[in-house]
Amino acid sequence: MDFLKINGPSSLEGSVKVSSSKNASLPILAATLLYPGKCKFTNLPELSDINFFIQILESLGAKCTKEEVDAASIDCFQADYDLVRKMRASVLVLGPLLSRFKQARVSLPGGCAIGSRPVDIHLSGMEKLGAKIKIESGYIEASCDQLVGNKIVLPFPSVGATENLMMAAAYAVGETIIDNAAREPEIEDLANFMNKMGFNVEGAGSSTIKITGKVLGEIKNEPITHEIIGDRIEAATYIIAALVTESEVRVEGFKSAHLDIVLDTLIGMGAKLEIEENSVVVHPSGRLKGARVETAPYPGFPTDAQAQLMALMGICDGDSQICEHIFENRFMHVPELARMGYDIKVDGRNAYIKGQSKLKGAPVMCTDLRASAALVLAALKAEGESQINRIYHLDRGYANLADKLKRLNANIDRMKS
Ligand code: UD1
Repeated sequence: MDFLKINGPSSLEGSVKVSSSKNASLPILAATLLYPGKCKFTNLPELSDINFFIQILESLGAKCTKEEVDAASIDCFQADYDLVRKMRASVLVLGPLLSRFKQARVSLPGGCAIGSRPVDIHLSGMEKLGAKIKIESGYIEASCDQLVGNKIVLPFPSVGATENLMMAAAYAVGETIIDNAAREPEIEDLANFMNKMGFNVEGAGSSTIKITGKVLGEIKNEPITHEIIGDRIEAATYIIAALVTESEVRVEGFKSAHLDIVLDTLIGMGAKLEIEENSVVVHPSGRLKGARVETAPYPGFPTDAQAQLMALMGICDGDSQICEHIFENRFMHVPELARMGYDIKVDGRNAYIKGQSKLKGAPVMCTDLRASAALVLAALKAEGESQINRIYHLDRGYANLADKLKRLNANIDRMKS
């Protein structure tokens, strides 16, 4: 199994271009199931999650390459346990399959390392559109004669439920309103893609989304092309890496407006940032001040950048606090960070981070995607050698992380054990 060897402390310099967004690519790949023609992508990111989602599409009968999905002849409506259990986002095939083919059988995704993550909001929304849903032998079985538009008020602005319901509503008769919808930029990208296919989605990016359903024959099958937005979480990770190592780095290839609250938080901590429309230059900012941060649905502070921020907070002047509101079990990086010298206490949803920790390299283990990124940032700062194990978590969401950091001058190598 591959691992990363990092010798710190590193000083970074240069510029890094982020890849396209994992969390935009996955629902967009799911949405190709709505389209009876070819969808071409100019920039799918090189990630194991993407390869894996393409395998699911192929298992349903789609013809796929690295740049193209053709879902003209889907002949299977079941996503198997063996595929779904590896990635929770697989449940996003439910909405488009049900909408276009009026049936779908998708394994329940089950728990995952960062919490129980149920799909009740997805399913009750589909029932509102007229779907009959049964859970049998660990599978969600959904069917309908014809989905019909309705008003759906989400009890919580779930990202995945908003996306699944937008896709379910694509061929529903009449108008669907999703209220208290999630407002993440990735949802806007999905809406733009659906509109390119010929669907009618309005209001994505706000908390009320309106989808006016189409009938099957109305959607053409001409090839369409889409460019996916830059990955704001990858960008946040490199920006924080520059701050952790007190370096000058330019991070580009994403919309800086998508990171407003992260950038405001970092500036409040003393970061010297030069913000342009599609890039951020981090200037050497010295030691930052501690802060108190709460994660929240967009436009709040993203849970996906919480672990990386914690790695920075531990070396700030003064203490910090993070309150995690989105997932109940998202502090698994804390014991691993402690191995490198961090002093962090967790009490329920709160983590209290002591500042000014002196970090020493250590062997550590990745537990989930963003937790792994925090370990890499800490290892860049720590004195001596760190070994980051189980990096398949990183491969899920960071394209060429070791190469990108090496080009920024980090002393990092990907090794085979
Ligand atoms: C997406 C992102 C993930 C990010 C998360 C929150 C993708 C592929 N993944 O995950 O990186 O961390 O948004 O920004 O885009 N919930 C329910 N019932 C449901 C659905 C969700 O209780 O039916 C709960 C979840 O358990 C969790 C919270 O709602 O506590 C947020 O989940 P959600 O917004 O749905 O996240 P995902 O779409 O799974």
